[in-house]
Amino acid sequence: MKKILIGNWKMCDKSALDALHFLKDLPSAQKKDVRIAAPFTLIREMAGNSLKIRIGGQNMHSFGEGAFTGEISAKMLREAGADFVLLGHSERRHLLGETNEFIQGKVERALVEGLSFVLCVGETLEERESEETFDVIQSQLESAFDGISDDQLESCHALIAYEPVWAIGTGKSAEMDQIVRVHEFIKSKYDLPVLYGGSVNLENFEKLLGSRSIDGVLVGGASLGAATFSQMIQLLREG
Ligand code: PGA
Repeated sequence: MKKILIGNWKMCDKSALDALHFLKDLPSAQKKDVRIAAPFTLIREMAGNSLKIRIGGQNMHSFGEGAFTGEISAKMLREAGADFVLLGHSERRHLLGETNEFIQGKVERALVEGLSFVLCVGETLEERESEETFDVIQSQLESAFDGISDDQLESCHALIAYEPVWAIGTGKSAEMDQIVRVHEFIKSKYDLPVLYGGSVNLENFEKLLGSRSIDGVLVGGASLGAATFSQMIQLLREG
């Protein structure tokens, strides 16, 4: 199975011009799966690039349209050129109060609109220390996929990203055996690719992708530098 590399640009301060320069410096993604979850305002500029790098959004609302000031719909994302979206990222769960129920609505909406998605799940440090990791992951997955069939998930090419909250943006990646145990747990329940995210960088990239339990990586901070992201694409190509 080919491995997947997704950059999460979060609310970075790249201008449209910066984004185009960034793309200009990258090697082509060829047949491998390379994606960038870009800020909404950069999607149109970056989508349809000749490098075959897929561009997506970082969030969307569960409703198709309506009085939701400041929100964005799946249709709007698609119209801008996005072909996937991140759902349930921990920064949205924990900093912006997104609930499992809301995320389930988003999953349903993405399926209705035919937009592929990456569902992010992960435990906090407190939950890990009190040995609740597997319960938390299970309940996040079960609620997000409530009422949704395996066929629906497969046909929209859904992905799952395991991102321990304590490893995101902290420079402290989870240990390999911690990651593998959670990935195997998820894989025993869902036949979907499982990515790891949380302080992925050039140092741990190859080791992570070398594991059979890890189908790809979701890279935040380290995806913002063109040189680093280019090297990651090269390593993916060689892998
Ligand atoms: P990080 O972020 O690589 O900066 O830890 C990962 C993510 O938020 O998806």
